[in-house]
Amino acid sequence: MSTQDLDNIMAAVPLPAIAIDQWDVIIAANADAATLINPNMVGRNYVTMLRQPALLDTIEATLQDGKSRRSRYFSNDGGQGTTFDVSCRVMPNSTKGSEAVLLCFSDISLLQQAGQMRRDFVANVSHELRTPLTALIGFIETLRGPARNDPKATDKFLNIMQGEGERMNRLVGDLLSLSRVEGDERVRPTTQIELIEHLDSIMRTMGPLAQDAQVALELDCDVAKVEMTADADQLTQVFTNLIENAIKYGGSGKRVVLRVRASERDAVLRTKGVCVQVIDYGPGIDPVHLPRLTERFYRADDHRSRALGGTGLGLAIVKHIINRHRGRLRVESELGQGATFTVLMPIDSFLAV
Ligand SMILES: Nc1ncnc2c1ncn2[C@@H]1O[C@H](COP(=O)(O)OP(=O)(O)OP(=O)(O)O)[C@@H](O)[C@H]1O
Ligand SMILES: [Mg+2]
Repeated sequence: MSTQDLDNIMAAVPLPAIAIDQWDVIIAANADAATLINPNMVGRNYVTMLRQPALLDTIEATLQDGKSRRSRYFSNDGGQGTTFDVSCRVMPNSTKGSEAVLLCFSDISLLQQAGQMRRDFVANVSHELRTPLTALIGFIETLRGPARNDPKATDKFLNIMQGEGERMNRLVGDLLSLSRVEGDERVRPTTQIELIEHLDSIMRTMGPLAQDAQVALELDCDVAKVEMTADADQLTQVFTNLIENAIKYGGSGKRVVLRVRASERDAVLRTKGVCVQVIDYGPGIDPVHLPRLTERFYRADDHRSRALGGTGLGLAIVKHIINRHRGRLRVESELGQGATFTVLMPIDSFLAV
């Protein structure tokens, strides 16, 4: 095989690739490898080009015994670290009648990120479940020991235990719900619904919660009917969570407003759309939290949210459902100024009042 043949083959390899001969010289490198490592590699000693000890050891070993190996290469371009899995294999180097080693670099950063996300998620779930579980076990021990013959304490502890049990139940329910909405995020809803009537019924359901918190729940709506293709149950989940949050976290403002507007051409969606805002006048959210608010388990005020029984999954579910409806979620807030959660969704038609 001529040097030209080798170069042609290398150019066809769909990954950064380098060939090294038994005298440690780089005899070929494709354009991807040149971009990744150095444009002037060919003819140089690989040790001076690849400078990462673990990788150098691997190449040396393969050059010596001819066995295939794998190693890692870390590049750091523009501050973003990229990890490559490097395969190290022998190939015949018939240009010189001897053997050479072929290195192929595959980018595994995305895989690693996905793995990290999965580990974080499992760690978060375990942590969230462990807290109520620890409480339950503690109370069971107390009930069997010190509080055995104390009916008053028994009653009190059973009450707390029920609360903790319900919290675990909610968490598992939310997790299932999240995995379901993530699963069918790409499946478009097919049923036709009338939104205003639907929002009315959600407001009625939320009535008692608002009353208990002494919050006035108001509807400010300038459309009589909004027809859209949507999943009714999922929209209930969205607005229930947003209104519940407004009452739970913004209840001190004494007012929560559901504001509904429709337009022939929404500037953001670039089509006929409805804009539903859940507005509260409570303590608001520090702007530093806003970008991460829809992440799973993210809570702006960790302590308070937990105390109020929140799982931190509500907005993650909301976000996925709105994505499925090809809509947008926007959050605006300033500390002390309340919070506004805006849902924009495409609609089929509307009727003004
Ligand atoms: N209207 C609001 N005012 C102030 N903080 C809010 C408001 N809405 C949400 N938050 C903050 O955002 C966090 C995330 O909300 P999210 O609905 O995802 O979780 P949660 O309410 O804690 O739990 P869940 O909804 O699963 O019961 C809350 O913990 C709270 O700190
Ligand atoms: Mg919530």
